[in-house]
Amino acid sequence: MSEPKIIIFENLHKLSAYLVTQWIQTATDYIQRTSRFSCAFSGGRTPVEFYNLLSAEQDFELWSRVHIFMTDERFVDAEDKDNNFRLIRDNLLNYVKIPPENIYPIPTNVQTVGIAAEEYKNRLVGFFTLDQNRLPIIDLVVLGLGEDGHTASLFPQTEGIDAPYRLTMPVNENHLKYERISLTLPVLNNARHVYFMVAGKNKADIVRRVIEDKEPFPATQVQPTNGELTFLLDAAAASQLKDQQKYIYRDETISL
Ligand code: 6PG
Repeated sequence: MSEPKIIIFENLHKLSAYLVTQWIQTATDYIQRTSRFSCAFSGGRTPVEFYNLLSAEQDFELWSRVHIFMTDERFVDAEDKDNNFRLIRDNLLNYVKIPPENIYPIPTNVQTVGIAAEEYKNRLVGFFTLDQNRLPIIDLVVLGLGEDGHTASLFPQTEGIDAPYRLTMPVNENHLKYERISLTLPVLNNARHVYFMVAGKNKADIVRRVIEDKEPFPATQVQPTNGELTFLLDAAAASQLKDQQKYIYRDETISL
């Protein structure tokens, strides 16, 4: 894989606005070339502003070709305040003209988290028309980073996150409030464009440990095989990085 790009912004607003321009450019490009664009979105607090800003994009032609998947989900009711899809629906999907059949929430109204993971796998297999031992190629993935080095719902303790050709998995960790469903590392690493969005001082330590120290957290293992990896950081999240000359600053006024 190519070296990850690390871009530092003065604040989360500028970071989010930048990702909106990248998302629209990439979507337009893929739609022109392949007539569709697939992306996977995450939950958490950090991407909320990105979803809000993206909702201003009103091009129906574009939205009609966009297909939205989830990177992970908590096994809670679709209307629960902690449901990741609900967050995306309430901040983005309710405001744009995307055909309902282009939206792929992870089901949580089934009996077990294992069934939910299996059903979501089948949705991916169907959309990407996958034969056995094939992985989907998602065009663009947006990920967050947890203070413990998790990403999507792949936690440091989670076993089997890199099992070959596994697309989705149930996640059940004692320390978590809810069971979860997640895309696996092979799927994330098969994507074309992967963006981490990370903001806040509480993330500064883990950002350094993932990007510079390369400690083996799930987030560190996101290394797209043929795709591009970009870390979008706000100045607070970037404040413990040592190798400053290696990074790109989008705003000259940033001082770390
Ligand atoms: C979730 C996520 C998770 C998230 C990180 C960062 O369901 O919570 O998909 O991986 O991205 O925990 O969360 P914040 O953006 O809230 O810090």
